[in-house]
This record gives sequence, structure tokens and C-alpha cells, in this order.
Amino acid sequence: MKKSEMIEKLSEYLPEKRKIHSLNVAKAAVRLSEIYGCDPEKAEIAGILHDTAKYVKLADVPGYCEKYNIILDEMEKNSTALSHSVLGTYIAKYEFGIKDEEILSAIRYHTTAKPNMSLLEKVVYIADLIEIGRDYPGVEELRELAYGGFLDEAIVKSIDNTISQVLKKKSLLHLRTVESRNYYLKKIKNANKSI
Ligand SMILES: [Fe+2]
Ligand SMILES: [Fe+2]
Repeated sequence: MKKSEMIEKLSEYLPEKRKIHSLNVAKAAVRLSEIYGCDPEKAEIAGILHDTAKYVKLADVPGYCEKYNIILDEMEKNSTALSHSVLGTYIAKYEFGIKDEEILSAIRYHTTAKPNMSLLEKVVYIADLIEIGRDYPGVEELRELAYGGFLDEAIVKSIDNTISQVLKKKSLLHLRTVESRNYYLKKIKNANKSI
């Protein structure tokens, strides 16, 4: 499928506002991939498709799992905020024809992050949070870090933001998010030690 066709098809899944967000994420992901040296084409596609499942209702999640043989963990089963990134991976694969595992994996981990992410996974994770339409306290600092060569620092900062949001909302925190924070915090500390 051509990129233009993907963008057109996106309207079957997302309202205009979320479609604009997805295209903004694609743009930010391309910019980051040029800074950090990963494939801009893959970054763009992952950005375009990362949120296709964002509007799948919780009641419809089991149907998707059955259709595409998706295994969700207990927390993902009960939260569309968490499951949409997993479902989106399968929608990208089976409904948009994406076979590239790197793109699929970047979609899969765009919500929780994970320890030891590939460059593409990191770029898509951060692009989602700093795209031009995002406006929340601290977003400028995140943009400065991410576009200024401090990608791992941006990841830790954004996970800190996510954790505070989750605490404020009294929602459950996925363990993978905590593991990711620990992983990148340790990585930054070790890098500083070796200077
Ligand atoms: Fe998302
Ligand atoms: Fe998003």
C-alpha cells in the first residue's frame, strides 16, 4: 500500500483530530530519525499508523484478539490506553499490509516503552509525545532534549511525566513502564560515570 493510500485509509479508523496527530507524529519521527540515524521511511509509516486502534472500544477488544490471535496481559485487557498499541500492531500488519517487524514493534511499544528499545522504537515513542500539536507542561523541555541529542534523557523525562499522570488519575501503572524508566536511568548514569 502506498503512503498516500495509508493516510486515506486512516480516516476509516480515526476522527480528523487524531489523524492530524498521527501525521504530526510521523513528521516528528522523521525529524528525529534524521538526527539519530534510523530509517526515516519506517519512522514515517510507524508514526502514521501508531494509533489506528485508539478508538477501539474496550468491549470490542476481545473480538480483535480472537480475530488476530492477540495475547494481551491482564492490565492490557482492561485498558484501551494500553491495548491500543498492541491492537494497532495487528491492524498495521493485517489491514495496512505492514510486514516490517521494526515498524510493527515501534507501534507495539509506543505507549509503555520497553527496556533496550531499538532506535526506531525510541523515536516513535518520543515523537508521539512531542509532536507539534502537543501542549502540556514540560513538553518544551522534552522537545529540547529529544531534538538536542538527548534521546535517552527525553525518554526518562517523559516516563516521569507519564507516571505522575497515572498517579494523579489513580490508574494502574504498567510494569514495563517502570522497567523502562529504570533501564534508561541506569544507562544514563553509567554513561555519565564513564566520562
Ligand atoms: Fe497511542
Ligand atoms: Fe499517539
